[in-house]
Amino acid sequence: MRKLTNIAVLPGDGIGPEVVDQAIKVLEAIGERYKHDFHFTHGYVGAAAIDKTGNPCPPETIELCKSSDAILMGAIGDPKYDKDPGAKVRPEQGLLKLRKSLELFVNIRPIRLFENLAGLSVIKPSVLKNVDFVIYRELTGGIYFGKKEKGDDYASDECYYTRHEIERVTVLAFEEAMKRRKKLTLIDKANVLETSRLWRDVVMAYSNKYPEVEVDYLYIDNATMQVILNPSRFDVMLCDNMFGDIISDEASVLVGSLGLLPSGSRGEQYSLYEPVHGSYPEAAGKDIANPMATILSVEMMLRDAGMIEEADTVQRAIDFCMEKSILTEDLNPNINYSCSQMGDIISTLIVEGPEALKTKSLHEANSTIV
Ligand code: IPM
Ligand code: MN
Repeated sequence: MRKLTNIAVLPGDGIGPEVVDQAIKVLEAIGERYKHDFHFTHGYVGAAAIDKTGNPCPPETIELCKSSDAILMGAIGDPKYDKDPGAKVRPEQGLLKLRKSLELFVNIRPIRLFENLAGLSVIKPSVLKNVDFVIYRELTGGIYFGKKEKGDDYASDECYYTRHEIERVTVLAFEEAMKRRKKLTLIDKANVLETSRLWRDVVMAYSNKYPEVEVDYLYIDNATMQVILNPSRFDVMLCDNMFGDIISDEASVLVGSLGLLPSGSRGEQYSLYEPVHGSYPEAAGKDIANPMATILSVEMMLRDAGMIEEADTVQRAIDFCMEKSILTEDLNPNINYSCSQMGDIISTLIVEGPEALKTKSLHEANSTIV
């Protein structure tokens, strides 16, 4: 386990810089309370890096990440590229290059519900009972990274996996299942795809090594339905790169907002933490974005670094905000707090505890706090 001191910060695009600033405030609050000295070094990725250097992931960004103990990322994407499908250089390439260069082969996305937000989801509260699962998404292979070709009248994206690529994420998913409710579901399309059949081979072989783990297999089309119909059936979900991408956005509907889903990406050497959501360009610069997903990503960073008490403290501060409805407008349009207020409040909770906040007056005049 690496000591967490030097943190590379890649705010990226859209709301990325705003949400990342709040996460830094939270880390600084943790530093103050527990006497840790965190150093933050900023770098560019995505559209921000294209504007600056012409390259969505310049070599200095990769160097910065490699020389840091952990990486905190915001979001990637800019509408000016979405409107131009022919653009040769795209912000997303920066994120993909970063994942590949750092060999971040697994992306972990926990789906944890906050009880008093259950009413905010479009899904019935009865369906949301006991929902608690985690998605293990393979991150550096599959259709994202296969050979690509485009002619005037044809295009192809190859989906390629080696046994080794599947094994290294599968073993982590089984290990996680052992720490949880000992259930693992492989999401695939083995009735159609050869790559999915290889995934099944690997998972079946590992299920013999982990006899205590109950394993089942779901086709992606069925799985996307089960996530909505019967989400509490899942414990650890194992997916290839593309299926994991799709199903994690879908799972955010259970939680009530994409603004609440954190993620951690890991490889042998490096780890990167980022919210699941995108760059939400419509909200950029307005101080309305929900920083919770990024703050929860920081909680994952602390936990992975073995700073369990610190991580628990962040979690308690977040839970307090949820309980007292101290929320951004995506979750509570009536009493809403700004992105920066959320960062200030959570930091205050961490350093001084809940006594420092007078919740009632927060709600009456939500600009007067901290
Ligand atoms: C994600 C994002 C990325 C992905 C995009 C921005 C390339 O949607 O992290 O889920 O598809 O992996
Ligand atoms: Mn995605």
